[in-house]
Amino acid sequence: MASKFFDHTKIERNVTLLSVLSLVVVAIGGIVEIAPLFWIDSTVEKVEGVRPYTPLELAGRNIYMREGCYNCHSQMIRPFRDEVERYGHFSLAAESMYDHPFQWGSKRTGPDLARVGNRYSDEWHVQHMKDPRAVVPESIMPPYAFLAENDLTAHDMGRDLRALSRVGVPYSEAAIAAADSDLAAQADPEADTAALLARYPKAQVRDFDGDPKRLTEMDALVAYLQMLGTLVDFDAAAAQEKPR
Ligand code: HEC
Repeated sequence: MASKFFDHTKIERNVTLLSVLSLVVVAIGGIVEIAPLFWIDSTVEKVEGVRPYTPLELAGRNIYMREGCYNCHSQMIRPFRDEVERYGHFSLAAESMYDHPFQWGSKRTGPDLARVGNRYSDEWHVQHMKDPRAVVPESIMPPYAFLAENDLTAHDMGRDLRALSRVGVPYSEAAIAAADSDLAAQADPEADTAALLARYPKAQVRDFDGDPKRLTEMDALVAYLQMLGTLVDFDAAAAQEKPR
């Protein structure tokens, strides 16, 4: 039945008119969803503590992507009770704002890793990477023992930092120039790390793979795993929010 104010039959009987008007309607929906992303800086709320990755963490992250860990692990805790009880505070947008590409993932054959940092010791991670079933007997994760054998060949982290700075990650010129020395310093307990820590607050400095004489891919990967989800201090944030 045709409406008194608007005759729909005209549109429904004219394919061209129907297509054009459908397109207009869908375009409005699309613009409303997409346009805010052009102002992404103001869309993602800044959160205290979130900083770009150190060169060593970034090298570990590169290995994480190279090995395809994301095929089995997500890095995004959803705001559901079961997830929050198991993994900790749900992920904030700001926590992955410097991730290019992001590692949210869509498949969990293994657990979410967004807050795995500081949950286990370095020794546990090294053991688990070399032989997952040695520490978790029912594990189906493949072993990555070769990471402890491979020297870390990240000689040019400055280029990684520069590439990331082009897409908006705030690495300074000084940080880019010092990338390789920062990388070496973070895995060396003897090194002078004042500059490193000034650039990357809360960076964990130590030998990560249990072999202080060598800098291996295992050092980088464990450094990366141990910082995941540790930058934002949720206890302090909760204390601040308490009513006065
Ligand atoms: C074939 C799937 C698969 C792949 C690929 C995989 N994992 Fe896993 N991972 C698992 C499973 C299943 C578990 C749970 C059992 C266990 O702890 O071993 C797990 C557990 C873990 C844990 C312990 C998490 C926790 O909270 O207990 C870490 C850390 C981890 N994986 C890191 C990695 C890294 C790093 C890579 C890539 C180098 C990787 N995984 C590749 C399946 C996988």
